[in-house]
Amino acid sequence: MSAPEDEKYPRKILGYMEGFLISKTLFAACELGVFDHLEASERPLSAAEVAQALDTSEDGTQRLLSACAGLELLVVQQCNDQVVYSNTGLSSRYLTRSGPQSLYHSIQYNSKTIYLCWHYLTDAVREGRNQYEKAFGVSSKDLFEALYRSDEEMVKFMHLMNSIWNICGKDVVTAFDLSSFKIIYDLGGCSGALAKQCTLAYPGSSVTIFDLPKVVQMSREHFVSAEDKRISFHEGDFFKDKLPEADLYILARILHDWTDDRSLELLAKVYQSCRPGGGVLLVEALLHEDGSGPLTAQLYSLNMLVQTEGRERRASEYTSLLTAAGFTSIQVQRTGKLYDAILARR
Ligand SMILES: C[S@@+](CC[C@H](N)C(=O)[O-])C[C@H]1O[C@@H](n2cnc3c(N)ncnc32)[C@H](O)[C@@H]1O
Repeated sequence: MSAPEDEKYPRKILGYMEGFLISKTLFAACELGVFDHLEASERPLSAAEVAQALDTSEDGTQRLLSACAGLELLVVQQCNDQVVYSNTGLSSRYLTRSGPQSLYHSIQYNSKTIYLCWHYLTDAVREGRNQYEKAFGVSSKDLFEALYRSDEEMVKFMHLMNSIWNICGKDVVTAFDLSSFKIIYDLGGCSGALAKQCTLAYPGSSVTIFDLPKVVQMSREHFVSAEDKRISFHEGDFFKDKLPEADLYILARILHDWTDDRSLELLAKVYQSCRPGGGVLLVEALLHEDGSGPLTAQLYSLNMLVQTEGRERRASEYTSLLTAAGFTSIQVQRTGKLYDAILARR
């Protein structure tokens, strides 16, 4: 019997083996400002023109632009015997620094931080723990002290968190009708991007961003406009401090940072502070119950191993944690995008 077609030529494996070449091409083009420069230009540009403007080698730039064209991130045209390049609609929208849905900062963080941690993935699997010490020489036992090892790193992380909610924040805050919850606390609310989506979707509600003092200061300074009267701030440590009373607590990408024990500790505190009839909204990338996917959540779970103390979980695992903390009426909504939502009631 002859081998199946995909065994005669290992196209899939070759693609996986060389997948990092694609990521690095994207990282380099963003870092060098290729998409920003082409966006600012009134006409398509040759590699020589781009190289001159970016102060890069002509040969290297030509190869980079060509690879970006191959990845369908640039449009390539022949014009008077010259090859010239311009942005695709996708690149203009997501890869330039200033676009409203820019992924530029996410790409930077992937390039400068996550990629370095993933260099030690094999060690992380062997040891079952994050690799901050090897990747960055940080030995702090406190996860967020390591993550926020400088103000610059903290702002970069906040930009990473921010950019995803510009793309799929609306999907998670509207996965359930939250309009009956008037006082909302976004625990670990970071840059406030999800809080903004919440106030847009629910004009009758106010949202308070609860986060570590330094994060709140940065959020005030760099991310949330003072004119946004329905968003306020509360500095605190959700493990150590008493949580303020509220109708709804949002925990978006919080529990995936922590072990089951710490997650339960936090959910039990939320339950204690929650008004009767109030609730908690978990926003996480849910794994399928049978382990079959989604691939993004499976890879994110490895990312949690390399970078945090936590993991991505199945809906049933979150349900068990919520039930153990005292919550009932647990509902799960998959959004079909990166993150899903679970609503539970006190
Ligand atoms: C993975 S980020 C998620 C941010 C945000 N919820 C989002 O989805 O974009 C985790 C957040 O929890 C905050 N955080 C971590 N430990 C905390 C603590 N002990 N008390 C309050 N906030 C904390 C971090 O500063 C960060 O903003």
